[in-house]
Amino acid sequence: MCGIIGFAGHSEAAPILLDGLERMEYRGYDSAGIAVRSETKGLQVKKSKGRLQVLSDLTHGGADLEGNLGIGHTRWATHGEPSDVNAHPHVSSNGQIALVHNGIIENYLEIKEHLMKLGVTFKSDTDSEVVAQLLEYHYNECHNMLEAVGRVLRRIEGSYALGIICADYPNALIAARKDAPLLLGYGKGENFIASDVTAILKHTREVSYMDDGEIAVITPDSIDVFDDELVPVTKEHHQVNWDVTAAEKGGYPHFMFKEIMEQPEAIRKTVSPRIKGERVVLDDISMTQEYVKNISRIFIIACGSSYHVGMVSKYNWEKMLRRPVEVVLASEFRYCDPLVDDHTLVIVISQSGETLDTMAAMREAQRRGGRALAIVNVVGSSIARDADDVLYTWAGPEIAVATTKAYSTQLALMDLVGLYLGDLLGTVSDSEYKAILAGIQELPEKMQKVLEKTADIQYFASRYFNHNSIFFIGRNVDYAMGMEGSLKLKEISYIHSEAYASGELKHGTISLIEQGTLVVALGTYAPLFDKAMSNVVEVKARGAEVLALTTDEFREKMEKTADSTISVPSIHPILQPSLGVVPLQLFAYYVALQRGCDIDKPRNLAKSVTVE
Ligand code: F6R
Repeated sequence: MCGIIGFAGHSEAAPILLDGLERMEYRGYDSAGIAVRSETKGLQVKKSKGRLQVLSDLTHGGADLEGNLGIGHTRWATHGEPSDVNAHPHVSSNGQIALVHNGIIENYLEIKEHLMKLGVTFKSDTDSEVVAQLLEYHYNECHNMLEAVGRVLRRIEGSYALGIICADYPNALIAARKDAPLLLGYGKGENFIASDVTAILKHTREVSYMDDGEIAVITPDSIDVFDDELVPVTKEHHQVNWDVTAAEKGGYPHFMFKEIMEQPEAIRKTVSPRIKGERVVLDDISMTQEYVKNISRIFIIACGSSYHVGMVSKYNWEKMLRRPVEVVLASEFRYCDPLVDDHTLVIVISQSGETLDTMAAMREAQRRGGRALAIVNVVGSSIARDADDVLYTWAGPEIAVATTKAYSTQLALMDLVGLYLGDLLGTVSDSEYKAILAGIQELPEKMQKVLEKTADIQYFASRYFNHNSIFFIGRNVDYAMGMEGSLKLKEISYIHSEAYASGELKHGTISLIEQGTLVVALGTYAPLFDKAMSNVVEVKARGAEVLALTTDEFREKMEKTADSTISVPSIHPILQPSLGVVPLQLFAYYVALQRGCDIDKPRNLAKSVTVE
């Protein structure tokens, strides 16, 4: 979603801001803008609807704006349509204050009406402009920028990450945060703010994460942080160990393809440090065995693909833990008056660690006494920091909007955690423990074998890319995997697609099957292979064209009935979806490629959904 970068240093700010915005493009946006301040030219603001290239052309790569202090923004419209005027930065009426904002100001209408009565004229339809105008109002009252920001923050309600520069406040930019990510970057003779670490990785790896209610003053040589009473706060510094090249395409045609290919290595990084002497060791969590033994209920809360990881894990964890596991969409959980108490473990899964619904659901569960264990990729993200325990997936930056390696690493980590808890509870036998652990260790190598078959999947994509509607069917973990395959396909190729539990076909869905309808039939889960086969026969009898996915072990049987068959190596049934999902990701990728879609930035989608 929206991205913020701010710079205070000695170099020209505009090109640095444009570069930072480009690195956040993957988050999704509809307009962009920058504001730069110099002694001679004062505040200069340029913004435009559309791709960043438009803004870059408009400013000749930033050369038209002069100054060493500036802020930049990519906007994802919420209040007010995408347009030049609604793009950020917003400037106050006297042209002295420029501001970028992520989040939503909930009481903006009330403040806007009040300011309008005082004669303030608004240019945009946004909630963000209200903050700029209110800031000018309070600054005129107290003539102290920091104090004015403090007064504004006491009046606005909602969520915000703010970057502010002021013509009267020469060498500093001001930042503030509540319920929207914002970090501070410490360079040499230059400092930064950013909503996403990838924006500033090229310049520094030393960061601190702003907490709710904090205000920061950033100059080229210092960053001072204050709490909401303007009392100084000391921040912990962190080193980001992400590789800059990991956020670049490195010769691959798309980030999505690169990230699909990176999965074996990503899984290795997720699981290897957590397996010692043939045991799962989770040093990074503080849950005691006594706590685990008293868990009466487990919720898995997440959105989108992370929710699909939860769906697979429900099947797997119930087998391993013999405890009820409920998977709930975060947007539903937060408003369903959930039954959570001190014996409830809440697993929160999020790649970005910033998904607003997931964060709100986690807080609701914690408020009711639940203990939150977060599975997160982005280090230092809001969910990671607010959870009772966090396990990082260590997948590195994921840039494509459609998740692949984050999904796979989340799933591998969930299998590992399930095994660990099952061991503590004594619900996994020794032999089963060994078999699952051996399977987890084999995963990267077997996944590599699947990735060697891209040409086959590309062929099937070229055969089926012009279907208007595609159904995924499967049972148990195959059903959960089908949900992910279907989401991947629809989000990047825009083909209508649904996933169904095969057993449900007869209860309604089968009426949609007609001559030539493409059904992707999933039959990788060995214990239910025969049932999967009968469903293939069932849809074939109604005229469906069947593309089947199974294991090498069952390939021959499947080929007798299905029109086309893809197979993956066999592995422990609990881990089979980790291999099965890869051809589905590749299928979606190649179908989207055939259809000429914008694969890394599908329409209407953002990488991290920080609004409700
Ligand atoms: C789909 C996709 C989304 C995310 C969802 C949750 O490819 O990427 O469905 O999985 O928006 O995001 P996180 O995991 O960041 O909370």
